[in-house]
Amino acid sequence: MKLVIIGGSGLIGSKLVTALREHGHEAVAASPHTGVNTLTGEGLADVLQGASVVVDVSNSPSFEEVAAMNFFTTSTHNLLSYEAAAGVTHHVALSVVGIERLPGYGYFRAKVAQEKLIKESSIPYSIVRATQFFEFVTSIAASATVGNIVRLPPVLIQPMAADDVAKAVGKIAVGTPENRIVEIGGPEAFRLDELVRQGLSARLDPREVVADPQARYFGGMPSERTLVPGDGARLGEIRFQEWLGGR
Ligand SMILES: NC(=O)c1ccc[n+]([C@@H]2O[C@H](COP(=O)([O-])OP(=O)(O)OC[C@H]3O[C@@H](n4cnc5c(N)ncnc54)[C@H](OP(=O)(O)O)[C@@H]3O)[C@@H](O)[C@H]2O)c1
Repeated sequence: MKLVIIGGSGLIGSKLVTALREHGHEAVAASPHTGVNTLTGEGLADVLQGASVVVDVSNSPSFEEVAAMNFFTTSTHNLLSYEAAAGVTHHVALSVVGIERLPGYGYFRAKVAQEKLIKESSIPYSIVRATQFFEFVTSIAASATVGNIVRLPPVLIQPMAADDVAKAVGKIAVGTPENRIVEIGGPEAFRLDELVRQGLSARLDPREVVADPQARYFGGMPSERTLVPGDGARLGEIRFQEWLGGR
């Protein structure tokens, strides 16, 4: 089975390509670095020749609202058109748990628009919504830092390791299309402030993390369960402390 991994050089993409090849599949990494650009269409027709599955784990180089919206709508539109022409029978995309529950975060609105294009296309699909990656905790801290203080709302979050994300996406990619949203998450939930406190402390980062119910998460106001998956989510195995210990 030939699978094309759009964003195959990225955090999840590179792990996914390796895992699929280890399982004997023909996995082709595609991204601007390999001459494939979903914004312009460059290289798409060639790389999709003979492919049955496309896994889109690309990301917008900018998280700013307009840039992210332009990236996800243009790239998804192009990708789906080229896939239809090439006879691709399964489009898999990586999205984020809770995107419709945090409309104040422009990046999440862009992911909602990406999902809508996929659902409306004629190509069978699986949308995999993951919770925040452990690797993303430092970016959460950076976004909420003023001086030496990190202010975060103490809402629930159930993050997961990128290795577990790649494993789950790989399984879905080689299966039959789900034609729905599938949620994946980590094995344990945390309060957001406590998760970031643990992450910073493991790196001897001197910043102080303060739980503040009025603080924002990337400009949005999450409620208690905005960021956690629902019942039936498939859960990864790697725990945060175990992951921190292995860094
Ligand atoms: N961060 C989180 O906690 C989280 C949680 C849930 C879901 N997600 C989703 O996971 C996905 C992957 O995230 P990631 O952190 O693995 O991404 P990443 O490491 O930033 O990698 C992004 C990839 O996108 C590629 N790319 C950029 N512009 C492109 C273009 N015009 N055409 C084709 N490919 C392009 C890059 O290619 P080059 O290397 O060639 O530039 C790179 O391979 C995203 O869609 C994100 O929404 C993230």
